[in-house]
Order: sequence, then C-alpha cells, then structure tokens
Amino acid sequence: MRRLQRGDTIVIASHNPGKIREIDDLLRPYGVAPVSAGDLGISEPEETEATFAGNAQLKALHCARAGGRPALADDSGLEVQALEGAPGIYSARWAGPGKDFSSAMARVEREMAARNGHRMANFTAALCLAWPDGETHVFEGKVYGQLVWPPRGGEGFGYDPMFLPDGEALTFGEMEPLKKHAISHRARAFKLFVAACLEAG
Ligand code: IMP
Repeated sequence: MRRLQRGDTIVIASHNPGKIREIDDLLRPYGVAPVSAGDLGISEPEETEATFAGNAQLKALHCARAGGRPALADDSGLEVQALEGAPGIYSARWAGPGKDFSSAMARVEREMAARNGHRMANFTAALCLAWPDGETHVFEGKVYGQLVWPPRGGEGFGYDPMFLPDGEALTFGEMEPLKKHAISHRARAFKLFVAACLEAG
C-alpha cells in the first residue's frame, strides 16, 4: 500500500471546518499538510453510493483527481438494528435542512418503538485515501451500543445524546469529548488509516 511521506500535502474532502481541524490535528505529527477542498475551489460531489465506504471513496477520488494530489474523505452515520441499518447513509438527511437532530432522534425512537425491536445500534465511519491515478484504500471503524430514551447530555453532535456505547455508563452526549474521541467509530477508522498509510514519526 502506498504511504504518505513527510512533506506531502493532502486534500481533505470536506467543507466542514470542525472535521478539517480534527484531521489537521491527526496529520500534523506525521509531517503531512492538509489543504481543504474548499480552499482549492473543489466542489462537493453528490453522495450517490449506497454504502459509507462507497460515498467516502466517491468523495476522495473526486478531490484527488481535481486537486492532483492524494485526498482523504470520510462518511459516517448511525445504524439501528431494528430498522435494518437505517438511518445509515441518510443519518444527516434525517435531520432535514435545518439540521434538527432532536426531531431526527425522535424519529429513530418512534420507528424503533413501532417495530417493537431491541435497541442495539452502532455508529460506522469509513475513511478513504485516494490517489490521483485512481488507487484507493478504505478503512472502516465501528462502535456498538444501545439507544436510550430520552436523550442524555449536551456534548457531541448528531445522535450522540441517545447513544450509550457498550460497557459505558454515559452516553456520547454526556461523555467528555476526549473520551468519546478515544473510543469512537471515527477514532477506530483513523487508527487503521494511520497504521497503513502514514510513516511513523
Ligand atoms: P457525514 O458528515 O456525511 O459523514 O454525516 C454524518 C452524519 O451521521 C452526521 O450528520 C450525524 O448525523 C451522524 N453521525 C456520524 N458520526 C456521528 C457521531 O460521532 N455522533 C453522532 N452522530 C454522528
């Protein structure tokens, strides 16, 4: 697998400043400099694939080709077992244009109760490194848990307040961000990416 070298720049296929900062922190110790797709004037492609991995790959390839250098993209969401994996790749869309996650969480609760199903769920994050010649590598991380109701805590974002990771007493919404970042689906995907694609500091 081709690795990134110290001094390389890499396009981050996101227009979300929070995500870009998080990836910047991760890459800096390895001497790799991130530049955002937005700064290069690269548009966001439509997410038309049916899986997290497919969408991460589509976004990373688009940016690698448009930017002429390696690119990193991620895609993530909540999968509820009783809902056959929904909202899944539609996790952000369930919150609507106003990004209303209180109503997205209420919808998850309502649909889960209607199925009389159990409350098992997981978050998944797929991270893709793509090269301008079309080579891609995808790394996937998951964290499993139960959904609680009512939601608890004001930390994190999205569905965090209703997600209680296995073996923990606090939801992601109640947890210190540093603790969440150590055990999250994203952390697990990043760890695999670092081991496979970055040169040890
Ligand atoms: P993305 O930005 O296309 O990857 O969309 C991810 C969506 O999945 C977010 O808008 C959230 O709804 C949900 N999601 C992903 N990761 C998390 C998490 O760590 N906590 C809470 N919600 C998450």
